Amino acid sequence: MIHAMFWKMVLILGLLGTATLTRGESAPPPTLVPPSPPTEIPGVQVVAPTTANVATPPAPTPTVPNPAPPAIPPAFRPLPGGIVAWDNKTQTATVRPGTPSSSMAFWLTNVHAQPVTVTAVRTSCGCTVPKLPPMPWTLPPGASGQIEVTMNLAGKSGMVIKTVTVTTDQGFDTLYVRTNIEEPPAGVMGQSERLRNLQVATANRQAVFQGDCATCHATPALNKMGAELFHTACGICHEAEHRASMVPDLKNLNKETNADYWRTWITSSADGKLMPAFAIENGGILNAMQIESLVEHLVQTMPSTKGGAPTATVPPPGSH
Ligand code: HEC
Ligand code: HEC
Repeated sequence: MIHAMFWKMVLILGLLGTATLTRGESAPPPTLVPPSPPTEIPGVQVVAPTTANVATPPAPTPTVPNPAPPAIPPAFRPLPGGIVAWDNKTQTATVRPGTPSSSMAFWLTNVHAQPVTVTAVRTSCGCTVPKLPPMPWTLPPGASGQIEVTMNLAGKSGMVIKTVTVTTDQGFDTLYVRTNIEEPPAGVMGQSERLRNLQVATANRQAVFQGDCATCHATPALNKMGAELFHTACGICHEAEHRASMVPDLKNLNKETNADYWRTWITSSADGKLMPAFAIENGGILNAMQIESLVEHLVQTMPSTKGGAPTATVPPPGSH
């Protein structure tokens, strides 16, 4: 109770105080602290301006009692509208993988009534180099010019984005250069990657089922049977458009084939061959049921011929 009373009193007194102030003339102005005299830095001698060390006599100081704070110099503010027009502030290039560099151009036009001077062009990375007339580069009203930007793409992939800051005496502007480095089409590997895979497989033909290789060579075949199993487990090598020359076309083997032939190759491959052995007991990925489903599919779909592939034989006239 006593506490509540006390705070009420404080509140009332406070309100009264405010009221007095607003009703009275005005609160006394805050006392201005006089500027402190310049602190002396030991070892630094302050030289008073004399006619000897000042070349031009100081201009008469305007007698404005409180000069406005200095405005931001135009070069340090974003370029306002109506001064420079760009054809585009973002340029995009699309290149194939392995392209060493890409170049893009920006056109600017002085749409201002006064000349505009480009004083600096900076990029966000040493790998991006601008090309333009020597600076300071002044564009009279109505004039246009070009800034070419080259991006070095060595070691880069995917979408590469860099900024280009153009500083003028009227403000700065930010441009963007983007290069989209295309991915190689799915399924087609780079030559170096293929060679590396081939080397790994030569050292160990079962490597295709391990590590990174498994994402393409084993996982897609998981739990598949028959035709689907053939396309995922075997087709990746044997039906590939870009396959290595030593991978035979199973439709054109030019030999008599049967269930035993297919079963043996799939289960254990053969000594000294690059073809992996697919049976689980031989370090592969297929169980006996999956292997039998493949054998059945192959006997039905792959021609068993000797002495010439069917495509090479000319059918006798009148036959289908
Ligand atoms: C990693 C790639 C690869 C995969 C996957 C693959 N093969 Fe092969 N295959 C080869 C290569 C390479 C040869 C050529 C012989 C060699 O050097 O091993 C071959 C040879 C063969 C041959 C022997 C052809 C002949 O000359 O008589 C048959 C049959 C065969 N593969 C069937 C299959 C079947 C069926 C599958 C799926 C279960 C399969 N291959 C999966 C790479 C592969
Ligand atoms: C991104 C999927 C992918 C990965 C990962 C992959 N391969 Fe392949 N591999 C393929 C394709 C697709 C082919 C068929 C040839 C082609 O298109 O280049 C192939 C073919 C092969 C061949 C047959 C020879 C040839 O070049 O045609 C061998 C051997 C082989 N791969 C081994 C490997 C090994 C070993 C690894 C792991 C070190 C591996 N692959 C990883 C997709 C892959």
